[in-house]
Amino acid sequence: MTKVLMVCLGNICRSPLAEGIMKSKLTEDVSQVDSAGTAGYHIGNAPDPRSIAVARKNGLDISNQKCRKFSVEDFDRFDYIFVMDTSNFENVVKLARNPEDMSKVSLIMDLVHPNENIEVPDPYYGGNSGFDYVYTMLDKACDSFVEKLS
Ligand code: 4NP
Repeated sequence: MTKVLMVCLGNICRSPLAEGIMKSKLTEDVSQVDSAGTAGYHIGNAPDPRSIAVARKNGLDISNQKCRKFSVEDFDRFDYIFVMDTSNFENVVKLARNPEDMSKVSLIMDLVHPNENIEVPDPYYGGNSGFDYVYTMLDKACDSFVEKLS
């Protein structure tokens, strides 16, 4: 069983998309995929309507997801913790209790371009095109992950 957690700041734009995309590429009997935010602004909320729309446009329904905050226990629950940007990376790593926790955390775009520090940009304050761009990036990253697993 491979357990993957997707993390962004708000858990309403990027990581819900990452969760939906990764779930669509892995079967439930061999994987668990979830998402969380480092901030608690939107706990209990559904994803941003623009993320729901871009997912739907690509054949995925993420409307049932509920926002939650990242917690230290997530280090025990997951094997891989993929963050969207360096700020998420710092926020998660500062909660790590030991080197094993730390080793689980990486930028999701490292799956495609290792060691280039490529960030998935926060689309929250922009227009719809930002959400399309984020979708394309995350789709590539998830493809790379599935390829690595197989
Ligand atoms: P996310 O985007 O981290 O991709 O979910 C954001 C969502 C909400 C806020 C910031 C970023 N906010 O400040 O409320």
